[in-house]
Amino acid sequence: MTVYERIRVEPISGALGAEISGVDVAGELDAATIGEIRQALLEHLVIFFRDQELSVARHKSFTRRFGDIFVHPNYQLGQEDKEMVYLLRRPGDTSVAGEKWHADTTMTATPPMGAILHALKVAEYGGDTLFANQYLAYEALSDGMKEMLDGLKAVHSDIRVAGPQSDVNAKRSSQVRDDANWRPTVNAHPIVSVHPETVRKCLFVNPVYTMHIEGMTEAESGPILNFLYDHQCRPEFTCRFGWKPGSIAFWDNRCTVHLAVHDVFDRVRHMQRTQIAG
Ligand code: SIN
Repeated sequence: MTVYERIRVEPISGALGAEISGVDVAGELDAATIGEIRQALLEHLVIFFRDQELSVARHKSFTRRFGDIFVHPNYQLGQEDKEMVYLLRRPGDTSVAGEKWHADTTMTATPPMGAILHALKVAEYGGDTLFANQYLAYEALSDGMKEMLDGLKAVHSDIRVAGPQSDVNAKRSSQVRDDANWRPTVNAHPIVSVHPETVRKCLFVNPVYTMHIEGMTEAESGPILNFLYDHQCRPEFTCRFGWKPGSIAFWDNRCTVHLAVHDVFDRVRHMQRTQIAG
C-alpha cells in the first residue's frame, strides 16, 4: 500500500474503491498532488471525492491534468460544448443511461482511460453507482478458461445504445444520436487486456458493447460471453457508491465495469461527466 503525503485515502470495500479527502478538486493542484491522485486511481481503480464545487471549466481543467478530454460520439446533442456529457434522469423516465454493467465507449478504437462524474442534483437516496474490479474477475477464472481466452478478441459496437434502431431516446431524458446518418462504431479488443500502466491482466468485455468473439457467431460466442458477464460482476468484485450533491467518482475505465442503479423512480438525478482519452 502506498503511503500518501498530500491526500488521505480510505478504501470503501475489499475489492476496489477509495474515498479521497484533503483535496479541493477545483483548486490549483500541484504536480505532486496530481501524482498521488493518479497513484490512488491505479491502486483503488475508482476514487471518490465529496463536497466539491466544480464549475464546468474547473471540471475540464481537472480532467486535463490526467490526459486529453475524450469527445463522446453519441451524446451532446445540440450542445456547443462537446467535451461535457450531461446524464439526466427525470420523473417518468423508464430507463437511465448506464443501467447495465459496462465500461464506457468500448466500441471505439481506443476506449477512454477513465471518466470523472460529478453529481449536480441527486435524490436523497437511490441512484447509487456500482463498480466491479476486472483484475479480480480475471484472476478468479480457472487456468483452463484463462488459457482459452488468451489471444481471443471480442467485437464491440454501440448498436444497442445509439442510432435509430436502439430506441433508447423514447425511454429517457439523456438523449443520444438517432439520426439517419448515424453509423455504428465497431472495433475489436482482446478479451484479456493488459493494463498499460500496472501491466496486470484484466477482463475487458461487457454486455452493453460486446457483440461476439472475433471469428465466431453471436450464437457460438454467447455462452462464453454470458458466463463472463455473470462472472465479472460477482459481489466480491464490487463496491457501491452513494451520491450526495458535489460528490465525484473518477474511475479507471481500463480495468473496471460500472452500472447506474435504476431506482431513482419519481426523483431527479443530474450528473456531469468528462472522459479522458485512452
Ligand atoms: C455512466 O455509466 O457513465 C454513468 C454512471 C452513473 O450515472 O452513475
